[in-house]
Amino acid sequence: MSIDPQPQVDLSDANTLGVPSTADWYAELTNASDLPALVRWARERHLPIRALGGGSNLVLNEQVSGLTLKISIMGKTRVESDSGRLRWRLGAGESWHTTVVDLIAQGGSGIENLALIPGTVGAAPVQNIGAYGVELADCLHRVEAYDTVEQRWRRFGQQDCCFGYRDSVFKQLENRFIITAVELDLDREFQPQLTYGPLQTLASQPGLTALQVMEQVIEIRQSRLPEPIVLPNAGSFFKNPVITTEQYQMLLAEHSDLVVFEQAEGWKLAAGWLIDQCGLRGQNNADGVGCYERQALVLVNPKRASATSILAWQAHVQQAVKERFNVILEPEPRFWA
Ligand code: EPU
Repeated sequence: MSIDPQPQVDLSDANTLGVPSTADWYAELTNASDLPALVRWARERHLPIRALGGGSNLVLNEQVSGLTLKISIMGKTRVESDSGRLRWRLGAGESWHTTVVDLIAQGGSGIENLALIPGTVGAAPVQNIGAYGVELADCLHRVEAYDTVEQRWRRFGQQDCCFGYRDSVFKQLENRFIITAVELDLDREFQPQLTYGPLQTLASQPGLTALQVMEQVIEIRQSRLPEPIVLPNAGSFFKNPVITTEQYQMLLAEHSDLVVFEQAEGWKLAAGWLIDQCGLRGQNNADGVGCYERQALVLVNPKRASATSILAWQAHVQQAVKERFNVILEPEPRFWA
């Protein structure tokens, strides 16, 4: 085996929440061909294996068991496509945002609304990243992954990924598949997606380009979401809950100002609004863990408190929203122990 896993590696700077944490075992993977041997190594020792990307959607326990594999497989190549779209093959370790910037500079479009989302390309399909009316599912062609259970390489077409709102087969069967490459199909002809409130003003702009939309998205995100380097956070901490028409009507009767978006699968409530209404925006606990003052859905961890404190604040927010709205908030980040 060309890579030897290292024991007791500090992960404090490998998660954007800044939680102090140590991996039992850790290895950095730069070459996909080393993966089968690493998986065998872990399985022989009955250790769980987890793939680490940008660490921007994780709550880490103080000690993380098993083998943590940092995925640093790089590469951006144009590949042939019979779909008429611009197909790019990307290494899972590439930064998502840098990829968006690069592919737009190369004349593609369709991912401009997804600019500045933290994390890596390989992590993007796991929770089907989305923002401003666009999801990764809209432009994903194929995912390549190693199946740690069957110990063989697998390819997933768009349909095989079972994408949903912040959901996929990779999230459902947690830690089974390690994504090594992603293929995206970009548009040659720019078709702007401007339905989201703050982007609507761009609709009247003549000669609008994907680059301009991307710049606007960057501006909006920078004004609302804290940079993890300045203020440790993991983006939206809860999913926006989707409720039935019956639940919606009951809530509306009591809260006429409810912020809600109609979806194919039901009514999507703005979790940030629900938390804000409970008076929790800008509030925090003794360890400094709290709800960001400009966007209540973002949990912030300025003093780099431990997972215990994060989970306590999570429960506090969930309970407040449950009591006031009878709605259960589901966390977006995954918890590693
Ligand atoms: N709102 C409040 N108070 C708050 C926060 C929000 O009243 O403290 C209201 C807003 O005024 C708005 C509504 O709630 O009417 C929705 O807020 P926002 O537009 O900020 O979007 P969001 O639903 O909170 C989602 C995604 C974000 C994504 C944005 C933009 C989820 C869980 N979050 O946030 O994704 O960037 O829409 O499309 O779906 C992420 O997943 O990490 C993430 C940042």
